[in-house]
Amino acid sequence: MLAFWLPSRLTQKLQALAMVLLLALVLTGKAWVPAESSSSGSGAPGRDVGSGAAHFESLCAGCHGSDGLAVEGEAPPLAGSSWVAGPETRLIRIVMHGVRGPIQVADKIHDREMPGFGARLSDEEMASLLSFVRSRWGGPSAPITRETVRRVRAEAGKRTRYWTVEELLATP
Ligand code: HEC
Repeated sequence: MLAFWLPSRLTQKLQALAMVLLLALVLTGKAWVPAESSSSGSGAPGRDVGSGAAHFESLCAGCHGSDGLAVEGEAPPLAGSSWVAGPETRLIRIVMHGVRGPIQVADKIHDREMPGFGARLSDEEMASLLSFVRSRWGGPSAPITRETVRRVRAEAGKRTRYWTVEELLATP
C-alpha cells in the first residue's frame, strides 16, 4: 500500500519496524500468560487479593455476609471488628483453627463456635484471604504474607482445638 508512493528504502524501514513491533507484541503477550496464572501459586506472597475475595465468598460469606455485616444469628460482623483490625497473628489463628465464645465484637458478646479452615487453605491462600478481609473491613493495609501464615501454622503444631479468647489474648 505505502509501497506505491514511498521511496523503497523508507518502505523497508517501515516494514522492519512493523516486524519488531509485532515480535514485541507476541513476546510480551506470551510473557503475560504465565505471570497471571501463577498468581495463585508461587506469585508474590499474600498479594493475590482476587483469589482471596473468591475464597471469602465461598468459605466465609455464608455466615459473615458478603458485606461483612454478618448473617443475623450466624456470626459476628467483620466490619468494625477489633479482631480484624488487631494483630495479624490473632486473625490468622482464628481462621486457621477456629474460635469458641464468649467473644466480644464491637459492643456485643457472641457465644457460638466457628470451625477452623487451616486444613482447607494453603499458606498462600490463607494469606490472600486474610489480606482481602483486612483491606475490605478496616484492618491495616499491609498484606499478610505467606511466611507469617506459615510461621503461625508451625507454632501451633498439630493443634485441632478451637481457640478461646483468653488463649488468643495470651498468645503473642
Ligand atoms: C459456620 C459459620 C461461620 C463461617 C463459615 C465462618 N465463620 Fe467466622 N465466626 C463465626 C462465629 C459464630 C464467630 C464467633 C465465635 C463465637 O461466638 O465464639 C466467628 C468469628 C470470627 C472472627 C472473630 C470475630 C469477628 O467477627 O471479627 C473472625 C475474624 C472470623 N470469624 C473470620 C472468618 C473468616 C475469614 C471466615 C472464612 C474463612 C469465617 N470466619 C467463616 C462463624 C463462622
